[in-house]
Amino acid sequence: NKIVLAYSGGLDTSVILKWLEQEYQCPVIAYSADIGQKEDWEAVTAKGMATGAEKVIISDLKKEFVEDYIFPAFRANAIYEGSYLLGTSLARPLIAKEQVRIAEQEGADAVSHGATGKGNDQVRFELGYIGLAPQLKIIAPWRTWNLTSRQKLVEFAKANNIPVPVTKKNPYSCDENLLHISYEGGILEDTWNQPDEDMFKFTVSPEKAPDVPTVIEIDFVAGNPVAINGDKMEPLALFTMLNKLAGENGIGRLDLVENRYVGMKSRGVYETPGGTVLRIAHRDLESITLDREVMKIRDSLVPRYSELIYNGFWFSPERELLQSTMDQTQKTVNGTVRLKLYKGNCISLGRKSDFSLYQESFATFEEDEVYDQGDATGFIRLNGLRLKINGLQGRYSK
Ligand code: ARG
Ligand code: SIN
Repeated sequence: NKIVLAYSGGLDTSVILKWLEQEYQCPVIAYSADIGQKEDWEAVTAKGMATGAEKVIISDLKKEFVEDYIFPAFRANAIYEGSYLLGTSLARPLIAKEQVRIAEQEGADAVSHGATGKGNDQVRFELGYIGLAPQLKIIAPWRTWNLTSRQKLVEFAKANNIPVPVTKKNPYSCDENLLHISYEGGILEDTWNQPDEDMFKFTVSPEKAPDVPTVIEIDFVAGNPVAINGDKMEPLALFTMLNKLAGENGIGRLDLVENRYVGMKSRGVYETPGGTVLRIAHRDLESITLDREVMKIRDSLVPRYSELIYNGFWFSPERELLQSTMDQTQKTVNGTVRLKLYKGNCISLGRKSDFSLYQESFATFEEDEVYDQGDATGFIRLNGLRLKINGLQGRYSK
């Protein structure tokens, strides 16, 4: 009887809006999530109404995105396949959660989205819907309709008075939010091609970054950044500031080929300025505040934790289990890191903490009380016992 559509105001979701109305003969609510992308929300609202939405709802989710999605992931040092900071993967579950809330508020019985049938986003949206509101019907037009080419989409738009942008189509498929902007498709589909410099939006090129480094200090409490250069800030303001400082210094560009959950490889270019700095700073502080064995176990869980976020399992018992374990490790991650931002690099200059396990006196070559050098003799001898037995057996070629 009513559908809530995740709507961006672009051509694809405008066509979907019209198509849903015709196909299901019911009112459609167009919902947009403001997660920090630069957008003219008045224009989006006007366009949604003009395209036939019963209502357009814009939800400001910026604060929630930083506090409840970005920060938890960075407390866990989340990173997919060793390099991707999960900018899109973290936003999808939040967009789905708000969409489900709106569906319930508006008495809708179905939700829809514009992700293609080939990617990760369809999985992330739909696993979110299923977990949070199993009763809702899910409509994924890209997997069912017959508008299977760009040409057919444009024809449908023209026939239904949906304005087709006259400007040259954006050559990339982009996804922008507070954490990152991603670019896929177009010339990037050839993994050997490099993007044009004018593609980048969040960062200057390292070559054009200032010749004078920017030195900053970030304070952390329980693994969360709380102040920059001693100024206490709310998470959203702080993260916005980090984006600016890092972006100006050309930090956070990444070009990679990743494995999508559905099976194919995909080439993407990302700009994640603030996130790149935050991860480096956070890990650096952990180097003095985390116990060695805790860090080892935690590190072994990072790939699992990151993969399940990438694959769309944010709202899952296993993510909650790992999150609470990750957060448990963060109680002692309090202190300050000093960093140099310079031409695409983020370099640690120092770190300090009242919770530091590093004791200058233990590591020095001076005499001390806790460590008796004589103990090392037996330590090495017992560690060597097994090796000695192997050696006596003649196991090593010399
Ligand atoms: N490949 C990245 C991911 O799966 C980015 C996806 C971007 N999505 C988009 N609709 N353009 O997280
Ligand atoms: C899409 O297919 O809609 C974008 C790419 C992705 O979800 O991985």
